[in-house]
Amino acid sequence: MAKVTFITETGESIIAEDAEDSLMEVALDNDVEGILGSCGGVCSCASCHVKVHPDWIEKVGPASEVEQDILDLEDEADGRSRLSCQIEVTAKLDGLVVEVAPL
Ligand code: FES
Repeated sequence: MAKVTFITETGESIIAEDAEDSLMEVALDNDVEGILGSCGGVCSCASCHVKVHPDWIEKVGPASEVEQDILDLEDEADGRSRLSCQIEVTAKLDGLVVEVAPL
C-alpha cells in the first residue's frame, strides 16, 4: 500500500492514502479528473496518461514497448509519460507524485 498524489490539470492535488491496485484504478476510485481508463486497463486507449514527477521516474521505471507505442501517438507525451494502468502501486511507490496529462 502507498500514498499517491495526483495533480490535475487545474493544479488540484488529490491524495490517495493506502493505495494498491493499478494507478489508473486508484485514480478512478478517487475521482481524479482527467483519468478515464476507457479501455479498462489493457493499454490501448491512453485515457490514463500521467506524467511522473521527476523525483520518481527512476523508481517507477520506463514504459514497456507496447505502452510506448501508444504513448508515441499522444501529442502531449514526453519523457515523463506513462500510462497509469500499467503502473502497479506497491509500497515501493509510497509517496509517488504524478501529474494528470491533458486529454
Ligand atoms: Fe486504456 Fe490505460 S486505461 S491505456
